[in-house]
Amino acid sequence: MLGITLGALPLPDLGCPCGGRLSDPMSTRFPATTMPDRDWWVALWPDPASVLRQLGIQPDMTVLDLCCGDGYFTAPLAKRVGGKVYALDLDPEMLKQAKAEVARQGVSTRQWICADARKISELLPEPVDYALMANTFHGVPDQTGLARAVRTALRRQGLFGIVNWLPLQREETTVLGKPRGPRTEMRMSSDAVRAVIEPSGYRTVRIINLSPYHYGAVFEAVP
Ligand SMILES: C[S@@+](CC[C@H](N)C(=O)[O-])C[C@H]1O[C@@H](n2cnc3c(N)ncnc32)[C@H](O)[C@@H]1O
Repeated sequence: MLGITLGALPLPDLGCPCGGRLSDPMSTRFPATTMPDRDWWVALWPDPASVLRQLGIQPDMTVLDLCCGDGYFTAPLAKRVGGKVYALDLDPEMLKQAKAEVARQGVSTRQWICADARKISELLPEPVDYALMANTFHGVPDQTGLARAVRTALRRQGLFGIVNWLPLQREETTVLGKPRGPRTEMRMSSDAVRAVIEPSGYRTVRIINLSPYHYGAVFEAVP
């Protein structure tokens, strides 16, 4: 078991509880959410720590990295908040890579969770200050349901930050010479995201431009 503590409480490692297989056969990957290859991801996001700052993640916060992938944002996130991170992904291989990346950068997390993001309301041992979902929301079939589930995981006035591809034609969003990202018709404007999230119990705090091809939308849970 990796070293995991919440205050004085030891937390079980919920990463890969079944030795690499998914524990729940009903869990399914959201469409168009495969982790990108590292070469062009690094070219597109040369400074992930700056993205986290722009999204309003503060060092005193406890953060959920929802659909953390191979840990590209998880490691700088753990650095920024001193390890107060819960990192969840459905894919055991992604969690394995994320754990290795976090260790490589000399940081730690509070808990790894291998589960479907839609079950988040049942999984966290404490409410978090901030839930981050990067590069995944476009593929979620029931976005309202997910927004409500995330809200139950947040403390009062907690924040939900979504990083999305801009609604540009896919041919226009090239990195290392090739079109990248989800299909054009899956991309959402920030207004479309607001229209889903606000009725689920949030108010919009800010929309930021994450050049060249993304934006961040930050929402606050309202009582
Ligand atoms: C495109 S990657 C983004 C990873 C990371 N957030 C980033 O921006 O670098 C999307 C991740 O979502 C995960 N994922 C897809 N469907 C999921 C689900 N239903 N529950 C939890 N994780 C899921 C995938 O395994 C993948 O690692």
